[in-house]
Amino acid sequence: MNLILLGPPGAGKGTQAKRLEERYGLRQISTGDMLRAEVRSGSEIGRKAKAIMERGELVPDAIIIAMLAERVSAPDVAKGFILDGFPRTVPQAEALDAVLKEKSMPLDHVIELQVDDAALVERISGRFTCAKCGEGYHDRFKQPQQPGVCDVCGSTEFTRRADDKAETVAARLEAYHRQTAPLLPYYASQGVLRVVDGMAPMEEVARQIEAILGPTPGRG
Ligand code: AP5
Repeated sequence: MNLILLGPPGAGKGTQAKRLEERYGLRQISTGDMLRAEVRSGSEIGRKAKAIMERGELVPDAIIIAMLAERVSAPDVAKGFILDGFPRTVPQAEALDAVLKEKSMPLDHVIELQVDDAALVERISGRFTCAKCGEGYHDRFKQPQQPGVCDVCGSTEFTRRADDKAETVAARLEAYHRQTAPLLPYYASQGVLRVVDGMAPMEEVARQIEAILGPTPGRG
């Protein structure tokens, strides 16, 4: 099964993708995570992307499309993928269609997580992750069970993203409405778009997505 999670910054795409990865055996592909890894490694792509990401703008399509085409061909994606943060422009969606067609891979669902802009700002500004294993947390919505200690790996170091500052969040939301929202009619016209209430609590959002995807493999 191959799917896209579509929605504005902070809508919960990464949160839900991680969960689906575990439940359905699919592979999360986050272009944001891939770009941040490029920035950390100091690669040529990372050097080009860093300033663009810090301004909250979109990295050029040519860079992203090349990265993604290579990633969906990797063997670990054989059971299916969850695209998180890609596509973000109509040219990216058209390029994805071409790659999938060439590889005879279907696109089963595009799931839109709908969340109000005001809630997004609160979600993004409260977000932090474990510096060691990358588990995501939130000051208000998901704190570690033992304060200051990661639930998953026990690390006591956490990080906040450079582009999660209030002024950058405004630019990211603007980019979403102007460049990414046109993908909603694009996928609606292909008959694959499904809408989920992303304002609901995380568990309820997960339940709505699982109702769309059908039973978890092996659990009936
Ligand atoms: P990217 O990393 O893709 O970020 P984004 O789309 O802005 O999305 P986020 O990761 O901020 O949010 P999310 O929807 O995953 O929410 P999360 O689950 O963390 O992109 C970063 C940058 O890279 C872009 O600005 C661009 O420059 C570049 N880039 C990436 N892809 C690109 C592309 N294809 N083309 C061009 N440029 C590209 O949740 C947020 C918080 O809310 C968490 O703390 C979570 O715990 C909490 N939360 C989640 N769900 C709920 C809920 N239901 N209720 C309450 N809290 C919740």
